[in-house]
Amino acid sequence: MFSEATLARFAREVAKYPPEQKQSAVMACLSIAQQEQGWVSPEAEAGIAEVLGMPAIAVREVTTFYNMYNQRQTGKFKLNVCTNLPCQLRNGQGALEHLCSKLGVQDGGTTADGLFTVQQCECLGACADAPVMLVNDRQMLSYMSNDRLDELVDTLAAHAKQGA
Ligand code: FES
Repeated sequence: MFSEATLARFAREVAKYPPEQKQSAVMACLSIAQQEQGWVSPEAEAGIAEVLGMPAIAVREVTTFYNMYNQRQTGKFKLNVCTNLPCQLRNGQGALEHLCSKLGVQDGGTTADGLFTVQQCECLGACADAPVMLVNDRQMLSYMSNDRLDELVDTLAAHAKQGA
């Protein structure tokens, strides 16, 4: 399931905890699997469960609790828009709908060219800056007006084109 290099990365994470608490490395191992495979497949969950000596269902519980873990392949750019209450009060839902409409997808959908996945997410901890979103689980963007959303999509699409 995993390459030697991946297993070595898992081992580095496991080594950060006492041997009897190696399950504490589950989130790090899931992130590594996702970085390498683009998503967390049921096979990856089972493999991580084996490495960490925990039930596969316990790994699944972690994967499904945090939406930074992809339960299916996503587009090259994953755009998560916060739709929790404070953001809702400042057009979070509108930002999500604008993105979906611009890209022609439903919430959770991926564009036909495989470039963009749009989905709602939980609070990103920057409520005062709403609408707030996260690109590829790493880059947080604030005050995402429709104009800024359009600019972002155009910039990312151009970026992808240059890299193609
Ligand atoms: S509610 Fe959206 S960042 Fe907190």
